[in-house]
Parts: sequence; structure tokens; C-alpha cells
Amino acid sequence: MATVEKATVSPVTIGGTRGGPDQPTVRKDRWWLQPVVTATVLTSFVVYATWAAFVNKDYYVGATEHRDLISPFYSPCLAGSCVPGSHPHIVLSQWMISPAILILIVPLGFRLTCYYYRRAYYRSFWLSPPNCAVADAHGSYSGETRFPLILQNVHRWFFYLGLILNVILTIDAVVSYNQPGIGIGVTVGSLVLTVNAVLLWCYSLSCHSCRHLCGGQVRSFAKHPIRYRLWKFVTPLNAHHMNFAWASLVFVALTDLYVRLVASGTITDFRLF
Ligand code: FES
Repeated sequence: MATVEKATVSPVTIGGTRGGPDQPTVRKDRWWLQPVVTATVLTSFVVYATWAAFVNKDYYVGATEHRDLISPFYSPCLAGSCVPGSHPHIVLSQWMISPAILILIVPLGFRLTCYYYRRAYYRSFWLSPPNCAVADAHGSYSGETRFPLILQNVHRWFFYLGLILNVILTIDAVVSYNQPGIGIGVTVGSLVLTVNAVLLWCYSLSCHSCRHLCGGQVRSFAKHPIRYRLWKFVTPLNAHHMNFAWASLVFVALTDLYVRLVASGTITDFRLF
């Protein structure tokens, strides 16, 4: 004869926490793992990126090494202090501190205001709430209706600026296939820069703002065939936005690290053919 387990009954308080006032959740799984991993990865990235931005050296491998590799943290290198060969035609001669500071404001603002990252860091750093069906660590909730969180609405503008950087990093990847003094060829560095650019494009094109730009506020797709095609293209990417967010974040740091190791002479950029 089959036995039927007696259902556990947890007290419900309207406006209170599931499981009652003394129990933040009735979840039995390791719900804390996700916020812990998120906080660890984000903190590690911020620490590394801050160090890399202020160290202001080993961000470019130039013609003396028969390479044209620049770290994504320093591209475009606009300051007067940029190492020779690393900057485009525009140079801000008065800017004397690290050129990375000029650049990183854009990807930082883009990621900080990203809808996915908002969910991730609201949960992992502010415990608001730490996970689904787990009590909020705060007594009240005001949403993003007041300063400073209302500034999250600038996300779309960072999206536009981020697209410009994506174009520049794509150009960096393309020119890295030309090795000065040798000719056209493929090195590990050029592949690293290429993968980095592809992941950043995937992250940008899967952005919720991008999807809304393509297909939002359209009453009839039949009357807007181009927007419909764009919307159809970005929607599958949008479904993987979280994956692209993490992959591009980790890889952009690894790309900086790779260029840094080559520029400092710690490793050699291997030429495949
Ligand atoms: S929603 Fe994540 S980048 Fe726009």
C-alpha cells in the first residue's frame, strides 16, 4: 500500500516572511550559493579592473614585438601619456592620469545599470531579496523610483556608448591580424581580441534595451518588416543575456591579463601561422 507523506504546513503572515517571522525561508536547498558566487565574482572583477586601470603600464604590445595588441581596458587610448603606437589620431594632451579612466566609465556604467546585473547585485550585495522565496533583508522597498536608483534609467544611453566601444574593439581585433614587419597572420593574441569583441557584441545585442529598440512600441510587425527582422534576430540572444553577461565580463578581464603578460615579457604571443 502506498504511503502518503503528510504535507508540512508553514504559517503564513500577510506581509511577513514565508515560514513565519523567525524563519527567513522554508527552502531547504543551498539558496545562498548563488548570491555568494555572484558577490565573489563581481568583487574579484572590480578589484582586478581597478588595479589594471590605475597601474597604467603593460597595456600595449607594439611594432617592436611585431604585434599590435591593446588591452580593452585602455582602448581607445586617448591620453597624451599613452605609449607610442597605442593611440588613435585623437589625443587629449591635457589628460595625464591613466587613460583607462577615460574609457572604463562607459562599460562600468553599462554593466552597473544592466537589468540582469541589477538583479544579481541587488540580491548578492543588498540581499534584496537574497534569492527567490527568501525574505528580504530590508524592512521596506522603494524600488527604483528615487535617487540614486532612479539613475538606473540611463541604461539605454550607456548602451549607445557601449556600441561605439564595441566598434573600436572590433577594429582592434581586426588590426591585430597585421603583425608589423611580418605581415598578415594569426596569433593567440589576435584570437583572444577577436573572442573578446564577439562576446561584447553578444552581450550588447542581447541587452533588453536593444530588444526594445528593435521591436518595442510597434503595434503591427507587418507594417515594420525591418524592425521585425531585427527583433527576431536579437530575441534568441536576449534569452541568453545572463550567460553573455558573465562570459563577456570574465573574458574582458582575461584579455587584459593576456595583453599585460605579453607586454611585460612574462609570456610570448604565439604565432599560429
Ligand atoms: S539589460 Fe543587460 S546590458 Fe542591457
